[in-house]
Amino acid sequence: PTGHLLDQLGRPLRDLRISVTDRCNFRCQYCMPKEVFDKDYRYLPHSALLSFEEITRLARVFLAHGVQKIRLTGGEPLLRKHLEALVEQLAALRTAEGLPADLTLTTNASLLARKARALKDAGLNRITVSLDALDDAVFRRMNDVDFAVTDVLQGIETAQAVGFERIKVNMVVQRGTNDDQILPMARFFRGTGVTLRFIEYMDVGATNGWCMDEVLPSAQVRARLQSEFALVPLAAASSGETASRWGYADARGAYDPALGEVGFISSVTEAFCGDCNRARLSTEGRLYLCLFASQGWDLRSLLRDGASDIELAAAIAPLWGQRRDQYSQLRASLPPGQASPGRRIEMSYIGG
Ligand code: GTP
Ligand code: 5AD
Ligand code: SF4
Ligand code: SF4
Repeated sequence: PTGHLLDQLGRPLRDLRISVTDRCNFRCQYCMPKEVFDKDYRYLPHSALLSFEEITRLARVFLAHGVQKIRLTGGEPLLRKHLEALVEQLAALRTAEGLPADLTLTTNASLLARKARALKDAGLNRITVSLDALDDAVFRRMNDVDFAVTDVLQGIETAQAVGFERIKVNMVVQRGTNDDQILPMARFFRGTGVTLRFIEYMDVGATNGWCMDEVLPSAQVRARLQSEFALVPLAAASSGETASRWGYADARGAYDPALGEVGFISSVTEAFCGDCNRARLSTEGRLYLCLFASQGWDLRSLLRDGASDIELAAAIAPLWGQRRDQYSQLRASLPPGQASPGRRIEMSYIGG
């Protein structure tokens, strides 16, 4: 059976985000703080991870049910050995319409200079790089493993050189930590073909000690940009998009594609659950229907018990059909502190 699925709020399933490892070589305080992810931390054993064949099988079933975009995430996905072999398998799949999926990757770019060519050759379409600062000292403090910003920039350059277009850079803005980097980042990427996106720091996971004081609302980020650059609003590129887009304007005030655009991902101050079409597959094959879900559905057992594609589809369809998740929206409508959904999964486990 193939067909497009709608959840309880009428939202289609379009975007599958697959975490390929729970490990990362960075220790960003807001994601994998050193105190928790130390040498004693128990990562998943290799046997628990979905194999490339298992991931590809699940991806095929999801594509038959309306998924059009697949994003590989982590942890840091490039730490998974031979990731390009998985990319090659996924690139051979087709959507229900018979088209290749939009195949994309979120990475911290630490290994990108080394891997970009192989990923491109394997059929990866797009890359998103997480980068929170341009100033080397600020960046080293944030990744907390003394990684140099020049190496990330080198990764981005190499990716451009091997032919990746429409590269995006995601910057999580934390008030008091890197908000002084907003303008330097914008100046640096304006006109380079790289789209910079500012992400509001979210209350995801349970280890980062999130508090509202550290969130800089997108409206304020935009105001800071507008103190230096003229911006014009752009239409959404697709429905269910996370970012609101703004283009740099030329001297006459019209959008100038040569200067490019920026995006604002405002999950705290302007939740976008209304058209959220994203499902997440954890490293060990659990399906999460919301970034803030406290429960995932074990698809790995089905796979390893020998379920057919039809049986897999029959298990997945009702899960999406019953979905009501809209955590960010609910949190926004409740008094502070009252929206906590129980035990939260970590972003390093489920991926951005
Ligand atoms: P593109 O197609 O490249 O634009 O991908 P995308 O818009 O899905 O964005 P991306 O995967 O780069 O996600 C950027 C960031 O947005 C993530 O790291 C999260 O911080 C946030 N984000 C993405 N999806 C969700 C979501 O479903 N809910 C919430 N609350 N935040 C999300
Ligand atoms: N808030 C917002 N974005 C986050 N990410 C990780 N943790 C958070 C958080 N608390 C983002 C990273 C990266 C992706 C993997 O998830 O910046 O872009
Ligand atoms: Fe690693 Fe990305 Fe998390 Fe930083 S935000 S610790 S780079 S997964
Ligand atoms: Fe989707 Fe959940 Fe994020 Fe809302 S909070 S946009 S429902 S993942």
